[in-house]
Amino acid sequence: MRLTQNDTPLLDTLLKHAQNRVTSFHTPGHKNGAGILSKLRNFTKRNVYYLDVTVFPEVDSLHDPVSCIKSAQELAAKAYGSKNAFFLVNGSTVGNIAMLMSACDPGDSVILSRTCHKSVLAGIIVSGVWPIWVQPKVDQERDVIYEISSEEVEHYIKNYPEAKAVFLTSPNYNGICTDLIKIQEICRKYNKILLVDEAHGPHLKFHKDLPVSAAEVNADMFVHSMHKVLSALSQGSILHFNSDKIDIARVRRVVSMLQTTSPNYFILASIDAARMQVVKYGAKVFDKIIKYCEQARNEINRLHNIFCLTRGEIKSKYYDLDLTKLTINVTKTGLTGYKVEEILASEYKIQVDCADMFNLVAITGYGTSKEDIEKLVEAIVDISKKYSGEYETWKLKLPPLATEVVMLPRDAFFSMNVKRVPLSKAVGCISAQTLTPYPPGLPILTPGERITKDAVEYLQELTSYTVRVSGQESDNLKTVKVIK
Ligand SMILES: Cc1ncc(COP(=O)(O)O)c(C=O)c1O
Repeated sequence: MRLTQNDTPLLDTLLKHAQNRVTSFHTPGHKNGAGILSKLRNFTKRNVYYLDVTVFPEVDSLHDPVSCIKSAQELAAKAYGSKNAFFLVNGSTVGNIAMLMSACDPGDSVILSRTCHKSVLAGIIVSGVWPIWVQPKVDQERDVIYEISSEEVEHYIKNYPEAKAVFLTSPNYNGICTDLIKIQEICRKYNKILLVDEAHGPHLKFHKDLPVSAAEVNADMFVHSMHKVLSALSQGSILHFNSDKIDIARVRRVVSMLQTTSPNYFILASIDAARMQVVKYGAKVFDKIIKYCEQARNEINRLHNIFCLTRGEIKSKYYDLDLTKLTINVTKTGLTGYKVEEILASEYKIQVDCADMFNLVAITGYGTSKEDIEKLVEAIVDISKKYSGEYETWKLKLPPLATEVVMLPRDAFFSMNVKRVPLSKAVGCISAQTLTPYPPGLPILTPGERITKDAVEYLQELTSYTVRVSGQESDNLKTVKVIK
């Protein structure tokens, strides 16, 4: 029987199996929920555990799919116009690592921005490639950071003709999307592979008012977190393959190598369901969400001390904004984004996706209702009335980041030939670690690069602010790990 986008072959198979109430002599050990702690089971009830099965012929195998998983992946590929789709159960994290390991040989180089997610740096390390880092642009007025523009992509390709691939993150956390149409044109012109971390953009293709997606420009490979905006359960992602420059057999091997042999079928089935929903109902659902978000933006932007990022501020030849994301700048309340996040959670029972010193990012998604958005706006209006203090003068900024990568990040990361030196003495040394201050959440040091005076001064300055530095291996930032 020929399947259509209305079908959910994996979900249907799993539900049928669960309804059959089969006695389990397979993993997991909870045996259809019988062994689950009652405190937990009383809350969830029993049904859900019948979906937690292992690999057997009826439910197919993620590593060697021949029936319902194969069909579900084929439908997902068709939905996004790719040649192959791979369901992932450890999120887009695995997808990013897999893209780099599939597209590049050790020793190849890749153009990418420091704005990338930490999983991309992990991919750089394990795949043994040279990063060609692009300095990100900071918008100090709006306290947001931009991905590489098409102009920069061309500039870097001309300056580093040996680069094998361009790796982009679009949309970023704030929903800012780079011009993928132009970038794909450039990549084709110079015969470069285009890889896109589109973790935040599995919905883009399905609404005409949303920015152009990697799927629509036929990027060589791209990854979607189906759980971030759509209805899949956390960890449910899809890696798409669309390339005539990358070996599909290698992609299969790499993806299989990085995934568990005990995938959670509930997650897998939810990816199948999320794909069906977005194809069938996405245009209608996101029509409403975009409308509610635009109303929210308008209401918030009438306030004197809280602002919401608009498409008008972002849209240009190079960038566009995903209208389903609300980036709310609270600097003029006298509070940090972190503090407002805490107030929203404790006083209004609203949890946003993330916050930094300046902004909150409220992500809407397939399940967001009009009432949810109204509740958020009411809370923001309330907070705006209550707080209007002195505001933070600290500005989002970045030092000129090192571009001199003198050792493969893989070799520096795994090296045993390391020592700790005082930060003040680190200039000129080769970093053996990553240091990422939040905000802005960009690595200031990465393994293998020569540490600059600018980076040291920036890190020293941070110690006088309440900035969390991820990667530091002691309580304060007094020393840094370098190659001996
Ligand atoms: C831009 C970006 N890429 C990749 C990831 C990783 O995705 P996942 O959480 O699905 O592993 C994230 C997670 O927040 C992200 O923000």
